[in-house]
Amino acid sequence: MLKSIVKKVAIFGTILAIFSNIFIFTYPSIHPSRCSWDCAATTKQDNMVLDGLPMWEKSLYYAKRYIDDVKLQWNQQDQNGINGNNSTTTATDSDELHILTFGDPQIKGIWKNTPYRSRLDIFGNDYYLGHIYSMMKKRLDPSHIVVLGDLFSSQWVPDNEFYNRTKRYMKRIFNRPYPNITEIKDSNHDEQGLYKVDWQAWGDEFELQNKTKNFGFGYSDVYSWNPDLEDILFVNVTGNHDTGYSGDVTYQHLARFQQIFGKDNYWIEYNANTEKAWRLVVLNDLLLEGPALQPEFIDYTWEFLYQLFERKFNGSTVLVTHVPFYKEEGMCVDGPEIGYYPADYEREPYKAGLLRYQNHIGQETTNKVLNLIFNNDKPGIILVGHDHEGCEVTYNRNSDSGEWTATRDPESESKYHIKEATVRSMMGEFNGNSGLVTGKFNHNLKQWEWTYTLCPFGIQHGWWIARVSALLTGFFWSLYLVL
Ligand SMILES: *[C@@H]1O[C@H](CO)[C@@H](O)[C@H](O)[C@H]1NC(C)=O
Ligand SMILES: *[C@@H]1O[C@H](CO)[C@@H](O)[C@H](O)[C@H]1NC(C)=O
Repeated sequence: MLKSIVKKVAIFGTILAIFSNIFIFTYPSIHPSRCSWDCAATTKQDNMVLDGLPMWEKSLYYAKRYIDDVKLQWNQQDQNGINGNNSTTTATDSDELHILTFGDPQIKGIWKNTPYRSRLDIFGNDYYLGHIYSMMKKRLDPSHIVVLGDLFSSQWVPDNEFYNRTKRYMKRIFNRPYPNITEIKDSNHDEQGLYKVDWQAWGDEFELQNKTKNFGFGYSDVYSWNPDLEDILFVNVTGNHDTGYSGDVTYQHLARFQQIFGKDNYWIEYNANTEKAWRLVVLNDLLLEGPALQPEFIDYTWEFLYQLFERKFNGSTVLVTHVPFYKEEGMCVDGPEIGYYPADYEREPYKAGLLRYQNHIGQETTNKVLNLIFNNDKPGIILVGHDHEGCEVTYNRNSDSGEWTATRDPESESKYHIKEATVRSMMGEFNGNSGLVTGKFNHNLKQWEWTYTLCPFGIQHGWWIARVSALLTGFFWSLYLVL
């Protein structure tokens, strides 16, 4: 009796485990065009074919599309296995650029009083995010990976928690070459051996650089920070939860971010002085506006933008930053909102009147920044995070007034416009998205052209079901055998 129940449960579990695992390992094939590079053309085609077809034909069409894509991926991965990794096509002769972006992973911490249920959630969530990353990386073989800020969920954590979370970020989620960070800790720790950033030393260095304005902002043709270990370039953008809004950012915040995640402001120029010139601009836009706790950080960010402008770079620009640029209420989920600490702020009186939060960069600052970056009339694209829901708008430039207005679709009278994609969050609540940016070189016009698509995973539960059902099935089959 018991044995037959156990058997039924085990069979049911097996079926569930098989289907849910197939799902989590093939999910991008459900939306093959959204989850592949440069797909604008195929998406349009899909809609054309499907208009007016009956339900069952549509289902058949989707099923076929899914299976075709699974087969395609299978064959491709076989090929990659034989030929080795072919992402080295980033050289000058390539006509395509492949940038994979992620918005707001925002991983939470585990503290002494965190309940067990939440601990399990946090643990599972790390591997859920890691699954998305590894699936997308394997499928797409990107040359650049950009995490658009809010790597962590809170800027109010001690250095050793910042370090502990980085370890999870590196090991469980983004599978980073690991040793580098332990080296950092070996030379930056307190008496108990826990990571502690020497922000005074960082501050002295900052002051020195500030005198000469030589911050080392620029790079050229970097395809990996460590070519011996990997052939992708991994970029971390600062978010308000990593370093704070400008009213919060201290030397400690900025020092530890830079020590572990790299610079917050820099550019990398590729193929400069050729027709295929383009650049990646990483901007910490939290430190553009004040009143700031450390106003010198604001000056430093503007210094970056002025130096960038002075390059007179003759190529296309991909701008990555955290807080979206100014747009009217209703264009995206977040409207323009900006808040300051009250004059009588008792908890931290020294913050009275300082910038406390912002959903968008202010209107005037937006105009200024876009004019400094997108000033050579070459196509470009902006990738941001922060709002979690995701959104796509176009910034149209009025060349006479130097003002940029955001609209859903490009304005017909505007001669020059840039797309801003707010990448929908990678978190489970928002369906675990990845943002795909494809650059294609147009030989007729001699310029790079950019497209963006969003690839969703599906709610976290699918991932949990797959993992737990596989475990339980193993357990029930073992039980069945011993009964
Ligand atoms: C970070 O990890 C270390 C070593 O595992 C541990 O001693 C420390 O308490 C952790 N920090 C926090 C804030 O949990
Ligand atoms: C971004 O962070 C990851 C993980 O900590 C690290 O491997 C990578 O080198 C960082 N990028 C830069 C530019 O430092």
